[in-house]
Amino acid sequence: MKRIIPVRLPGGRDRSYRIQIAPGALAQLPALVASRWKGRGVYVITDANVNRLYGRTVMHGLRDAGFDPILIDVPAGEESKSIGIYYGVLTALLENKVRRGSVIIALGGGVVGDLAGFAAASVLRGVEFVQVPTSLLAQVDSSVGGKVGIDHDLGKNLIGAFHQPSLVVIDPLVLKTLPPREFRNGLAEIFKIAAALDPKFFALLARNTAKLRPTETPFLTRVIATAVGLKAAVVEKDEREAGLRKVLNLGHTLGHAIETASDFALRHGETVAIGMVLEARMAATMGLLSIDHLMRITQALEAVGLPTRMPGTLNMKRVHSALALDKKVKDGMPLFVLLKAVGSSAIDVPVPDALIRSVLA
Ligand SMILES: NC(=O)c1ccc[n+]([C@@H]2O[C@H](COP(=O)([O-])OP(=O)(O)OC[C@H]3O[C@@H](n4cnc5c(N)ncnc54)[C@H](O)[C@@H]3O)[C@@H](O)[C@H]2O)c1
Ligand SMILES: [Zn+2]
Repeated sequence: MKRIIPVRLPGGRDRSYRIQIAPGALAQLPALVASRWKGRGVYVITDANVNRLYGRTVMHGLRDAGFDPILIDVPAGEESKSIGIYYGVLTALLENKVRRGSVIIALGGGVVGDLAGFAAASVLRGVEFVQVPTSLLAQVDSSVGGKVGIDHDLGKNLIGAFHQPSLVVIDPLVLKTLPPREFRNGLAEIFKIAAALDPKFFALLARNTAKLRPTETPFLTRVIATAVGLKAAVVEKDEREAGLRKVLNLGHTLGHAIETASDFALRHGETVAIGMVLEARMAATMGLLSIDHLMRITQALEAVGLPTRMPGTLNMKRVHSALALDKKVKDGMPLFVLLKAVGSSAIDVPVPDALIRSVLA
């Protein structure tokens, strides 16, 4: 069941890397690290929850493989993508003698991946790092593609870099300890990738919603590998999001606005699910998407327990003004990624304000 997905990037062989996906891969991590970075300094960055569950095993394994690893753990949650925590991580790295030849291991969800990746991108002008994503969202989305960064009080992900990992190791077995809401959070990004890029993959997911569970290891491994393969292919063609990569922002324009307006009470994937449905409704109203495809998307997301409507408690005005802060605007109209069909999308579509207001209402 082991799958290896290469990511080939322009600019020389050393920029390319491999994504290794296999149940039990976490146990292979020390050997993989030793085969490439023997004798180097290893720094494991993780959060408190993941440390409690997997920290000891990983640290033991690395010691057995001949390393003297340093563990740096941060509190769990989005608050750790802050300048203060980032500075603390840099201090821990520098005090423990990080060198240009050292390697950082990001062991955790998207928060740890983004934070540790940005520390790796910036400390000593950049050291290598390995992504070991432990949440479903991080396994299918944030660990692949090299976007790393932290938040600013003025908005999410406003400080960051493109810094590709040297290796990504994905173990679907760790998803068994993930809280159910976090698992669904990751499913939203899988549906997004399928809806934006691959009708067959979407149909497979929609037919098997009951099998989208942490205990269905073989099916889940296949689904993760397919999602990662699709994302990797997009990143290979457009690493810096000049064009094609924007399709991965499907559901995210409204999603981000809803996420901000909810003061982060909703998980990112939940707002992406709502964003996907509302944006599909816009596409249907504009005559881009058939009602049948709109229904297929809505039903699939509902079947896995993701929200598909605006929560009644949300303030529409706040959603609307959060949308106005979005950077992507043309002729005063926000630009959206809109579906033309399940599995096919159009980027940079300007949407009139009246239509946005009507789907939000
Ligand atoms: N860089 C990118 O391309 C990209 C893409 C999408 C999202 N993101 C970022 O990812 C972040 C969200 O990531 P997330 O949803 O993984 O959140 P997260 O990292 O906060 O993880 C969610 C929760 O699950 C816990 N957890 C993780 N793995 C676990 C496991 N195996 N067992 C038990 N608990 C576990 C964490 O401790 C945390 O409490 C956001 O900051 C978002 O901006 C980045
Ligand atoms: Zn997302």
